[in-house]
Amino acid sequence: MKVALLGATKGMGRALARLMAERGDRLFLMGRSSDELERSARDLECRGAKGTVKTAFCDLLKPETFGNALDCAQRELDALETVVVTAGLFGTQEQLESDQEQAARVLTADYTNTVLFCEEVRRRLIARGGGTLCVLSSVAGDRGRKPVILYGSAKAGLSHYLEGLDHKFRASGLKTVCVKPGFVKTGMTAGLKPPPFACNPQDVAPRILRAVDRGTPLVYVPPIWRYVMWVIRHLPRFVMRRIGF
Ligand SMILES: NC(=O)c1ccc[n+]([C@@H]2O[C@H](COP(=O)([O-])OP(=O)(O)OC[C@H]3O[C@@H](n4cnc5c(N)ncnc54)[C@H](OP(=O)(O)O)[C@@H]3O)[C@@H](O)[C@H]2O)c1
Repeated sequence: MKVALLGATKGMGRALARLMAERGDRLFLMGRSSDELERSARDLECRGAKGTVKTAFCDLLKPETFGNALDCAQRELDALETVVVTAGLFGTQEQLESDQEQAARVLTADYTNTVLFCEEVRRRLIARGGGTLCVLSSVAGDRGRKPVILYGSAKAGLSHYLEGLDHKFRASGLKTVCVKPGFVKTGMTAGLKPPPFACNPQDVAPRILRAVDRGTPLVYVPPIWRYVMWVIRHLPRFVMRRIGF
């Protein structure tokens, strides 16, 4: 498989890229830090990635960098087959309520710019007859909840967009994979109290990889979150107002 990844220098993206490298996939990395990209590229080569892992600058906060990064990926991989987006930003509800600039960054990166990036990918993949686009959204988008009102609203919009893409373009060969992780212990969640079912990136990466391989349109990781969120989605509003979750 030929895969271009945005956000594979850390967390779940790194765990997923390592699994892909270990089975000999050809990888291309996009990201905002050349040092992190180089370090990750060499790490993936040592783990078995096919050929040299090349990289390109791509900053989720700078949409003008998207087109060039994807053109480079297309050139270096010979063809764009699979694109994985694991880059994203987070802030607690308290941080985002008190810092409007940070709130704007999180909302812009996690919704508007992720969608703009996916649109660039969609055009390229459909032009070549199809491919797979896998994006990490979040269980936080499944219901408006007190601790994740702002971050969750961006992920809700993103999940909706990915669902629409799947409905419209599956017949044209575009397989859209929306991944909804629960709490995963990464740099993003460092310092937060892990809730029940919290797990590590290595625990969820195999399930994400399987979803990419199969083109599964929606996957919760770990799977227990599908049932947890089903319950949360069905709780009456008066209960949601009382609980802190
Ligand atoms: N961890 C969780 O509990 C959890 C739960 C649900 C959903 N998610 C979602 O899953 C995805 C991955 O989360 P994670 O926990 O694995 O995150 P992470 O460990 O913080 O890694 C985030 C990745 O995104 C990259 N990134 C951040 N800002 C960027 C920017 N402006 N431009 C380009 N790349 C950027 C980082 O690159 P650098 O190396 O340059 O920092 C890093 O590779 C995110 O979309 C997150 O919202 C996470």
